[in-house]
Amino acid sequence: MRIDIISIFPQYLEPLNLSLIGKAQSSGRVDIAVHDLRAQTTDRHNTVDDSPYGGGPGMVMLAQPWLDALENVVEQSPKISTRPRLVVPTPSGRVFTQAIAGELAQEEHLIFACGRYEGIDERFFQQAVQGGQGVNANVNANVTVDVDRISIGDFVLAGGEVAALVIIEALTRVIPGVLGNDESVTDDSFAPGAMQYLVEGPIYTKPATWQGHDVPEVLVSGDHAAIARWRRDQSLLRTIAVRPDLIQGSSAEQFDDHDLQVLASAGWTFSQGRWVH
Ligand code: ADE
Repeated sequence: MRIDIISIFPQYLEPLNLSLIGKAQSSGRVDIAVHDLRAQTTDRHNTVDDSPYGGGPGMVMLAQPWLDALENVVEQSPKISTRPRLVVPTPSGRVFTQAIAGELAQEEHLIFACGRYEGIDERFFQQAVQGGQGVNANVNANVTVDVDRISIGDFVLAGGEVAALVIIEALTRVIPGVLGNDESVTDDSFAPGAMQYLVEGPIYTKPATWQGHDVPEVLVSGDHAAIARWRRDQSLLRTIAVRPDLIQGSSAEQFDDHDLQVLASAGWTFSQGRWVH
């Protein structure tokens, strides 16, 4: 997968050379390039923003440097058959989830547009999408992308760079081969499948007794089925405690009979199409 990132602070993206993503780059599973938006400016002050039409606080990023940057990125990147997806980290996007990480991991070419200030002039997006309406006649036919606005949560950051790091880390680790075979992503919190509506429960390592606290006995029993069942029970109980909204958003079909008993013991029963607790 090819990932291009456009930002006025390229240094913000340096952590992508470390750890898991650094290794994914070295092994060729992802190919990441960071581009400085200011390199597209032609004026003496390298201007990338101006005041908002209609008034209001803050500054808005100019459409032209963004379109120039996007055109350059598309021209420079290796020829890829599918249309790139332009990911725009913004609080006014769809909320990022593990399912979206999996969706993005299947793309061949992602371009991240990391805005700052109040955001980017909307006409840049109109121009970047094929058949964008209300734009000037000089549509550049080379650059057509799918725009995907993504929020990493209900809070406001100073810019899209940190959100891009979050999204890229989450999607890279679910690319096949990035994690070792023994580090399955299917048991993760929120993983599509049996964990979709659950967070993981507690985990332990050596020593078996630490500061007077023992590891739960089942974990040293060697009984794999019992361990799997215990882990799932813990996961159900922790989800009820910290993320009841996840259970609320699920239906009884997502759970087996034992799950439903555990949920019932914690006061959650599914009746007439909804959870009662
Ligand atoms: N930029 C600023 N705040 C953001 C958020 N919550 N998610 C994604 N990008 C952002």
